[in-house]
Amino acid sequence: MSPEAAHGGHPAHIGVFTSGGDAPGMNAAIRAVVRTAHYHGLAVSGIYEGFEGMVQNNVKRLGIRDVSNIIQRGGTILRSARSKAFMTEEGRARAKAHLDQWGIDALIAIGGDGTFRGASLFAKEHGMPVIGISGTIDNDLRGTDRSIGFDTATNTAMEMIDRIRDTASSHDRLFFVEVMGRTSGAIALHCGIAAGAEFVMVPEYRQGIDELIQVLQRAARSKSSVIVIVAEGDEEGGAYEVARKVKGRFAHYDTRVSVLGHVQRGGNPTVADRLLASRSGVTAVEGLLEGRSGAMVGEVNGRMAFTPFEEVVAGPPTMDDELLRILGILSI
Ligand code: F6P
Repeated sequence: MSPEAAHGGHPAHIGVFTSGGDAPGMNAAIRAVVRTAHYHGLAVSGIYEGFEGMVQNNVKRLGIRDVSNIIQRGGTILRSARSKAFMTEEGRARAKAHLDQWGIDALIAIGGDGTFRGASLFAKEHGMPVIGISGTIDNDLRGTDRSIGFDTATNTAMEMIDRIRDTASSHDRLFFVEVMGRTSGAIALHCGIAAGAEFVMVPEYRQGIDELIQVLQRAARSKSSVIVIVAEGDEEGGAYEVARKVKGRFAHYDTRVSVLGHVQRGGNPTVADRLLASRSGVTAVEGLLEGRSGAMVGEVNGRMAFTPFEEVVAGPPTMDDELLRILGILSI
């Protein structure tokens, strides 16, 4: 019996795609979706370049062995792209026509908030079941304690900051290190604690230059190096801007700036990301089989859970004040 013939109320052919910024662990999630679909006798196709691939009919059937040897690779084998066409009703209608040609009757979208907004709209407009899997280094989604890619990105940033610490303490220097996070300070705060930073600046809170200077004054009395981590979206500006403002007030400091950039997005996923991706992929396919739609699968208190897209994108999760407090205590 072909997988398509198995249709009995539940989906028979899943289309899986990645969208938005890539994140380490996306490949592990793709692998899990493909293998779980085959395990349950469903057909599965990869849609290349996200929503744009739907509009352009860039689709390929995926067999069990098409996802061999990818669990350990960063990036996404399905690639990712922005799609202006999908933002129009006409573009989405073309996308649906292409999915119909392939017999794709359910989608699994791997990405962040923008991905789930598009997926949610498409699901409602065309009555297509869609399940989301978190895939963003920013960890800025509600409905999951961590998003796929966050652990790897944070570990990468922490390793880089450890290296910066080696050179900073050899020269009595003050370093401003910029990490990713246009609207989210999660990477900054987590690797700030893990790398023993003296101060962290995040978009969620307005920590002014005055507060920073107080910390620097205190640190200067007893420390051989000082590291300030700045999330790229901080209101005071990026690391260069913050360094410029501090230098204006503390000219005697020997300061340096380091912007970590896209190294944080690449690399082999950690165990935690591979596990989360594998669990998410299995749960997503089985969720479709149970008749679920319009929700993202995430890990909440250690267990897999579904959260409606509307809630996932309702705003970033609130920052963990306790972590900021811990950083303040441990950086004295
Ligand atoms: O969403 C992930 C992220 O890495 C953000 O932290 C960052 O602001 C953005 O993507 C950069 O995206 P790009 O350079 O791909 O446009």
